[in-house]
Amino acid sequence: MSVVGARPQFVKLAPIATALSDLGHEHVIVHTGQHYDPMLSDVFFRDLGIPEPDAHLGVGSGSHGVQTGSILAQMDEELERFAPDCVLVYGDTNSTLAAAVSAVKLHYPVAHLEAGLRSFNRGMPEEHNRVLTDHAADLCLAPTQVAMEHLASEGLAARSALVGDVMTDVLFTVRDRIGDQQTANPLLPELSPEGYYLATIHRAENTDDPQRLCEVIASLGAADKPVVLLAHPRVRARAASHGVELEQGSVIVRDPLPYPELIAAAIDSAGVVTDSGGLQKEAFLLRVPCTTVRFETEWVETVDLGWNVLANTPDDILAALTRPAPSPTDAAPYGDGHAAQRAVEAIVSRLSI
Ligand code: UD1
Repeated sequence: MSVVGARPQFVKLAPIATALSDLGHEHVIVHTGQHYDPMLSDVFFRDLGIPEPDAHLGVGSGSHGVQTGSILAQMDEELERFAPDCVLVYGDTNSTLAAAVSAVKLHYPVAHLEAGLRSFNRGMPEEHNRVLTDHAADLCLAPTQVAMEHLASEGLAARSALVGDVMTDVLFTVRDRIGDQQTANPLLPELSPEGYYLATIHRAENTDDPQRLCEVIASLGAADKPVVLLAHPRVRARAASHGVELEQGSVIVRDPLPYPELIAAAIDSAGVVTDSGGLQKEAFLLRVPCTTVRFETEWVETVDLGWNVLANTPDDILAALTRPAPSPTDAAPYGDGHAAQRAVEAIVSRLSI
């Protein structure tokens, strides 16, 4: 049983669903409903060929306690209904933590995909979710060697397996499809290739405080090229309630894009500026320079290899956007694009399914 609820989890689910089907396993999908807007949910199932969910909890938005608690309260019934051999949870959202806790309480084996990532920033909701989920899980499926080291230092080495990063699997498939079909960049014709930066800002630490949101948007507005801000509903909602105008200076606001269009837009951009975890890594894999508007990153390899820069003050953000191109590298810290198959094999062998 896969339990998913938020946009990045649907991306991770896609290669897992394929690998489970290829290896002949039965797969039940539970959608918590944490993300419900079609552009944050349905389009991913459609474009990435993911089977329809078998159950939908419809929890919607709410405070951490309400959202997490609502999933917890409804999961007992789904676990009893489907009696899975393993409950697979993904990443670091409230859906991840709630599903992991509900499964361990009812003694269903839990595997955590994308285990071992750490920002060491205990103010982030994602950090609470990932630490607690790793410690609840029977099997921690790590995307990188660094993640394996974090798990080992927390005493979880015996329960951990290095499988690689499943988002890399999806990205390589979609990138090759775009190359074959020469899909038009969805942001063109109004913007020429390398004539714009692609931006996403949605994290609580950048959106919840009015002053912080104001400063980040003003920095993007002062950029030397148009900045296409693909506005997650959270940033739109917070900007409206704080009275912050998103479309200022160089900033052009657009709705979030479906996954293949997002990748096409990133490939054509002069650089990515983001606080998303996934997009930092996608930019690196596409060899597009990335500026990350955060004080730390879980994907430290992108910074160590020179393709990602952490920048927070307006001056630092603007300097990072216009920095010279990083040195080419053929390093592959995120695996070879076959992580999902290894994850399924690890689940079967380590949990004796
Ligand atoms: C969640 C995850 C975050 C992940 C992100 C990916 C948690 C704590 N956070 O953040 O780790 O990076 O998903 O996008 O789980 N909203 C809508 N429509 C939707 C969903 C949300 O309008 O379909 C708006 C609502 O105003 C809601 C706000 O976005 O209150 C925040 O949504 P929420 O699910 O709490 O967290 P995200 O910011 O999406």
